[in-house]
Amino acid sequence: MNSTRQAIKDRVKAGLDVVIELLDARLPGSSGNPLLAALTTGRPALKILNKQDLADPSQTAAWLAHYNAQPHTRAIPLDAGDKAPARALIKACRELAPNRGDLAKPLRVLICGIPNVGKSTLINTLVGKRAAKTGDEPGITKIEQKIVLENGFYLFDTPGMLWPRIAIEQSGYHLAASGAIGRNAFDEAEVALELIHVLKRRYPDALQQRYGLAELGDEETVLEAIGLKRGAKVRGGGVQMHKAAEALLIDYRQGLLGRITLETPDEMTAWRQAAADE
Ligand code: G4P
Repeated sequence: MNSTRQAIKDRVKAGLDVVIELLDARLPGSSGNPLLAALTTGRPALKILNKQDLADPSQTAAWLAHYNAQPHTRAIPLDAGDKAPARALIKACRELAPNRGDLAKPLRVLICGIPNVGKSTLINTLVGKRAAKTGDEPGITKIEQKIVLENGFYLFDTPGMLWPRIAIEQSGYHLAASGAIGRNAFDEAEVALELIHVLKRRYPDALQQRYGLAELGDEETVLEAIGLKRGAKVRGGGVQMHKAAEALLIDYRQGLLGRITLETPDEMTAWRQAAADE
């Protein structure tokens, strides 16, 4: 963690023109890191809403508007594996730093994102081959990687991960539901119940259609019903709730419930405010 922070500070010192933060379009606020802005003070920011193919298009539009209204900030949606939109990233960076981008004054771009957000996929797409190191192997020191995307356009990949301090309870649930947090670090049933809570409120049809539910009861009843449909029964008629939870989370992560965004910009602002007031 500290080495990542140091690597970002070193990059700022060595020269940095644009900071790309890769966000998960299904949970843009929760997958972002406020610390990054503090470390890269004043540098123009490009927010990439990745995995937009899994997110609700109307919510993605709302999040793009939210970020684009911020000073020195641009936001674009992306599927990291899709070649053409990846080129949009280069264009957006050039617009954010119009005075840089030739060999004498190269455009120096730092790319950051939480684990599993699609950074390796995006870099591989941009360079057209498997250039980025994937996974993070403990104990292996990784130095900053410089990737020349075009003449005068350098992309710097940070070693390790800069994890946000999860001060907002809902963000913890959303990160866990999305697959960003290792599965042993949270209670799957608890996360599934929170996911059902969001789905019931915002995407009830998706929940009903996917699991053939005529009506939606409380969260536990829904999870039980999902378990019954997905073969998580125990002898005697009960349901293995953790198996039901696992089935729901896998379906959500694979997009089998449809395009679903877990949070809105207004909600995130209110949660941040409440956390700051505590
Ligand atoms: P990271 O370097 O940020 O840790 O993430 P990585 O690129 O390894 O991507 C994590 C997972 O997210 C991968 O799936 C990858 O395919 C998927 N992914 C990345 N970008 C997108 C996107 O825009 N849309 C969708 N739908 N998925 C995306 P995986 O199941 O872990 O591996 P695999 O499917 O590549 O085998």
